[in-house]
Amino acid sequence: MNRLADKIAIVTGAASGFGRGIAEAYAREGAKVVIADLNGAGARAVADAIGAAAVSIAADVTRRADVEAMVAAAVDNFGGLDILVNNAGATHKNKPALEVTEEEFDRIYAVNVKSLYLTTLAAVPAMEKRGGGVIINTASTAGVRPRPGLTWYNGSKGAAITLTKSLAAELAPKKIRVNAINPVIGETGLLESFMGQPDTPENRARFVATIPLGRMSRPSDIANAAVFLAEDASEFITGVAIEVDGGRCV
Ligand SMILES: NC(=O)c1ccc[n+]([C@@H]2O[C@H](COP(=O)([O-])OP(=O)(O)OC[C@H]3O[C@@H](n4cnc5c(N)ncnc54)[C@H](O)[C@@H]3O)[C@@H](O)[C@H]2O)c1
Repeated sequence: MNRLADKIAIVTGAASGFGRGIAEAYAREGAKVVIADLNGAGARAVADAIGAAAVSIAADVTRRADVEAMVAAAVDNFGGLDILVNNAGATHKNKPALEVTEEEFDRIYAVNVKSLYLTTLAAVPAMEKRGGGVIINTASTAGVRPRPGLTWYNGSKGAAITLTKSLAAELAPKKIRVNAINPVIGETGLLESFMGQPDTPENRARFVATIPLGRMSRPSDIANAAVFLAEDASEFITGVAIEVDGGRCV
């Protein structure tokens, strides 16, 4: 269990859901992990549960100073930065496109898109000092196969996928790989917002019916893909957005 031995990682949005699963898997595989989240108390709880291999920081990925502090936390506590997982995300509730407010729109694009700009600026110089690195973006099947009700969120994830590919091409000479993971709907804190209706067995069943492998995604599914994309076994893979979706996008 040392696929990420000696690696230093930051996972954003790691207080819960997919981010927590990724951070825990990274620590199990030998990495040192910065647990970054808007929810500072939640981030601290995750770091405490992991132990000495983790530190936490309260950070809003839409704020430049917070993002810079997040990278400094990796450098100061562990000596550098090898892996950045841009996982923090926000959505509007599933509803008609014309009912989404301007405030909701701005928040979604700040958290899901502007954050990629800010973290790239802060993380790439630190990765260059290590001779390269890995960036992984949690995008979504929503960016590949958009459905009604999540239109503005879908667009933000489409942007994340295109930015993944463009940065992969641009950062390759620096030996920095950039890939994305596209989860299908999963059992996390955002579930009810994505469904736009209460989390009941009947409502879940309607969504599960569209997934060939017959269940929602779990943090462990996303974490398994995130370990692979971070480890040296994927050293020749860059610019991909891998569906972890039980066949949803087929
Ligand atoms: N759950 C799903 O169905 C699903 C499907 C596809 C993609 N995703 C994506 O997965 C990612 C993780 O979401 P999740 O489903 O685990 O939900 P979640 O709510 O459990 O986790 C999201 C975390 O991000 C944090 N966060 C939100 N805004 C932030 C900010 N500005 N700065 C720092 N942290 C912030 C939250 O505090 C929370 O801990 C998101 O990018 C989401 O869009 C989720």
